[in-house]
Amino acid sequence: MIVCKTRKELQEALTRCRQGKSVGLVPTMGALHDGHASLFARARAENDVFVASVFVNPIQFNNPDDLKNYPRQFEADRNLLEQNGCDIMFAPETEEMYPAGEPVRTYAFGPLENVMEGARRPGHFAGVGAVVGLLFQLIAPDRAYFGEKDFQQVAVIKELARQMDSGVEIVSCPIKRGDDGLALSSRNALLTPENRAKAPAIYATLKKSLAMAHRTCGEVKDWVKSQIAVFPEMELEYFEIADPDSLQPLDDTLPAAGNVGFIVVWMGKVRLIDNIRY
Ligand code: PAJ
Repeated sequence: MIVCKTRKELQEALTRCRQGKSVGLVPTMGALHDGHASLFARARAENDVFVASVFVNPIQFNNPDDLKNYPRQFEADRNLLEQNGCDIMFAPETEEMYPAGEPVRTYAFGPLENVMEGARRPGHFAGVGAVVGLLFQLIAPDRAYFGEKDFQQVAVIKELARQMDSGVEIVSCPIKRGDDGLALSSRNALLTPENRAKAPAIYATLKKSLAMAHRTCGEVKDWVKSQIAVFPEMELEYFEIADPDSLQPLDDTLPAAGNVGFIVVWMGKVRLIDNIRY
């Protein structure tokens, strides 16, 4: 595996490896776990050259504490990528991605970023779009892999690829969960042992709500809220049921097959995100 810290090293590595072959990219912020590894396996299997980026993107964090506390573990990430057959690891410093004085190209995602994560985390998707757009420019992959754990992010990235006319195929990958059902996340490591033990109740509640298809989305929402409220260590930020393409929340209709339930729960200072398909 070639490890690149600069844009120049990245271009040299790409020239050496590409030679007309297909390139698959998995963008990450590091602190890699089995959820990321499920994307690596796809990228490895479906492309000649597998590139992973590891960059904690400061401009997508709307909360300075979240950025400061975000786990960073370069050596462990490098080993995991090596074990997963990665050809090129791109791990730039902030100044390399955003050189002083060089404007960052930004994108607008309209209604997609006015709901849920977009509404709750102002500027978040602008930051995600800017960094992924830059990675697409620098690497020009044939395919790029994103996890459905961040379902709204996948929709935003598909719109980004369309706006850029980049020709990058966006591959959406299923959520990888622990044996207890909790969606794997870099932030799980920040939970206290007590909260980690309770956290699987989030997905268990989502699964139970699937049996309520005869109730309206509004009623299912109220039920999920009441279930989460039972746990004193959990604070629900939102639960919405939305159309999988437009992401616009639904209330008066019955959940239709393919609609998605989106949840965010705080446990202590840790923000946990998950979703489920009806
Ligand atoms: P990060 O949180 O590191 O996630 C990188 C990719 O791994 C994302 O596409 C995410 O959805 C996916 N992923 C994380 N946990 C997963 C799980 N349990 N199952 C399946 N996929 C999972 O998402 C980001 O970084 C950033 O916003 C990024 C796209 C890299 C831009 O900075």
